[in-house]
Amino acid sequence: MEIGDSFQQETKYEPEKLGGHSLDWAGRPKQFKSHENAIETISLPEPSFGDERDIWSILQNRRSERRFNAEKELPLNTLSVLLWATQGLTARAGDTFFRAAPSAGALYPIETYFYARSVESIKKGIYHFRPDFFDLEFLREGDFSRSLSDAALGQAMVTRAQITFIWSAVVERSKWKYRQRAYRYIYLDAGHIAENLYLAAEALNLSTCTIGAFFDDYINSIIAVDGIEETVLYMAVAGIYK
Ligand SMILES: Cc1cc2nc3c(=O)[nH]c(=O)nc-3n(C[C@H](O)[C@H](O)[C@H](O)COP(=O)(O)O)c2cc1C
Repeated sequence: MEIGDSFQQETKYEPEKLGGHSLDWAGRPKQFKSHENAIETISLPEPSFGDERDIWSILQNRRSERRFNAEKELPLNTLSVLLWATQGLTARAGDTFFRAAPSAGALYPIETYFYARSVESIKKGIYHFRPDFFDLEFLREGDFSRSLSDAALGQAMVTRAQITFIWSAVVERSKWKYRQRAYRYIYLDAGHIAENLYLAAEALNLSTCTIGAFFDDYINSIIAVDGIEETVLYMAVAGIYK
């Protein structure tokens, strides 16, 4: 068996293997991440959703669209809607905040970073979204179109899209409860988030396409994570075509 095959086998739940694991509540990892060294924090506007589209036509028409009009600028409100739809907080029960996308055990291991190539009123660069403050941390200023495209195996859509999302996982948030099986769940969580992006983009008549083909550690270095405790899982481009 090769590594993927043995991963699937060794992370199976089986009746005789369950049990014997109690949760260390005192050592529970933090639910939210902040960067002390952020250049600045930027508040996001309350998302304004505009015209209502019915869910059935959105499902019918959702597509991966790789064409972008590179000259256009994405309105900040549109970015706000996409961040809300993918990872916005939508409810609270005690200390647990629920989000627009589901998460195994409500542990929310996924962090959202993005490269803003052309977004109204914010500089070109790498940002981190904080769902708990509904704001942005500005992490790195600069033009990352070329390096992100290189890191995505040369996929040129990254150089034309208004934004490129990068989703990472803080693995311990999920491992705390699910141990090695957590690795299954973090990928499932990322899939839910990406589908929310697809549906929100379709509702807003935007182009989007997810990206699974990238050099992991190249992306990890761009968002300054170690690739072990926190590691990139998935990416997506989004923006304006028409
Ligand atoms: C996990 C995953 C990874 C993907 N990675 C890429 C990618 O790296 N580049 C790309 O152009 N499309 C990528 N796609 C988009 C698929 O090619 C697309 O979903 C598929 O062709 C079906 O088309 P549709 O999304 O329009 O229905 C990916 C999709 C998924 C679900």
